Amino acid sequence: MVDSPYSVLKKTPARYRSVHFQQIKDAGGKFAMLTCYDATTAHIFDEAGVETLLIGDSLGNVVQGQNSTLGVTMEDMITFSKAVVAGTQRAFVLADLPFGSYEASVEQAVESGIRLVKETGISAVKMEGGVEYAPHIQALTAAGVAVVAHTGFTPQSEHVLGGYRVQGREADATTRMVEEALVLQDAGAMMLLMEMVPADVAAAVDEALTIPTVGIGAGNGTTGQVLVWQDAFGLNRGRVPSFVKKYADVGQVLSDAAKQYRQDVLKAEFPDNDHSF
Ligand code: KIV
Repeated sequence: MVDSPYSVLKKTPARYRSVHFQQIKDAGGKFAMLTCYDATTAHIFDEAGVETLLIGDSLGNVVQGQNSTLGVTMEDMITFSKAVVAGTQRAFVLADLPFGSYEASVEQAVESGIRLVKETGISAVKMEGGVEYAPHIQALTAAGVAVVAHTGFTPQSEHVLGGYRVQGREADATTRMVEEALVLQDAGAMMLLMEMVPADVAAAVDEALTIPTVGIGAGNGTTGQVLVWQDAFGLNRGRVPSFVKKYADVGQVLSDAAKQYRQDVLKAEFPDNDHSF
């Protein structure tokens, strides 16, 4: 595990828990979150010291090749979440409640949240939506399910929001988003994720809340940052959002390796004596 001199925690915990993110926020620190969908990658990110891994319903796009997150099911979330939990030792692991698993009623949300935690071993669920979901967050938390609220751009509502677009650009956006965030915090959310929100608005929300925030396309004023790993590490060969920084070109490494392997096989150079019994 790679420790960081920039961590504000006195000691790296054996396993990150919600209390550690609160300590990080209280001490004015930062934390990193990456999406993750399988045990192999989870093991690598966990060893690298990434504090939080999110099984996002973005798996619909980056794993299943769909053009939205809307088709992702509870069964999908359970399968991929189990794999990520199996690959981690230290990271805090949370997973999305997928579209259709919580909107109908508070009872549906509690049932889905408990199922996801019980069947996978994740530590929290993430739920998209604003103040209308405060009762769901309250009931989930009362039932023992930690909730990360997700506001700003919420991909599950793309058809209502009119597509992928920055939220919170209207004149009174800061007031509206701060008020919304305070309601979600009061309902019991342990953390607030903001997606595609102007940096000053997200910073004002972080400032107003006592709970930690995490941003994606929301500037540098949030407590934590999250990225979809295929976007950030160069595995996504399609369109990558402009707020993503490219840290590696894993796609190129894989492509070069696959070409080299194929060439070796076609030239009968693999397997050689060193790789035969
Ligand atoms: O599903 C997901 O990966 C997410 C991130 C974009 C935050 O919700």
